[in-house]
Amino acid sequence: KRLVVLVSGSGTNLQALLDTIGQLGPEEYGAEIVAVGADRDGIEGLARAERAGIPVFVRRVKDYDSREEWDAALAEAVASHAPDLVVSAGFMRIVGKEFLARFGGRFINTHPALLPSFPGAHGVRDALAYGAKVTGCTVHFVDDGVDTGPIIAQGVVEVRDEDDESALHERIKEVERRLLVEVVGRIARNGHRIEGRKVVIQ
Ligand code: GRF
Repeated sequence: KRLVVLVSGSGTNLQALLDTIGQLGPEEYGAEIVAVGADRDGIEGLARAERAGIPVFVRRVKDYDSREEWDAALAEAVASHAPDLVVSAGFMRIVGKEFLARFGGRFINTHPALLPSFPGAHGVRDALAYGAKVTGCTVHFVDDGVDTGPIIAQGVVEVRDEDDESALHERIKEVERRLLVEVVGRIARNGHRIEGRKVVIQ
């Protein structure tokens, strides 16, 4: 299966996928990353792709006259790599109708909280501020809401009294990277179907 991965930052989830595919080989894992896309230049996520010899592309919102035109351009860039699955691994933009029309149902996101709790761009900070005793991460299919799509898998992470946002986020990411690698591999190897809010992996 062909994967396109979208990033906006450090790309450690991308790196986890690269490392696993490098160790197992694309045949055994069930997928290969054919391109990495971002909404901004100069991020470590793109450098990780380049070091792995994987084609990259950048589509910046500010280069387009409207959000819709950006969305269409991003969809076009992704489509040009003919992906079977698209993975948002720390991609910090909400995609629009055009993107979802083309990739909905095969667009996976990972979020650093236990959805439906703490959706949005600050899930770790919000859980900490709320005083949650456990939080975690959620791997889900993207729908037309923000972090509202059908849940594929979740992992629980305890919140410690001494946690600040970055310490907690680092601990969440350890679970998140393993969960994402496991889920993407299973879906790539076995196929999936979505029945309402239920995700069935064959
Ligand atoms: C991940 O925790 C993701 O859930 C959140 O941002 C983080 C990205 O980390 N949206 P990285 O870029 O994969 O290291």
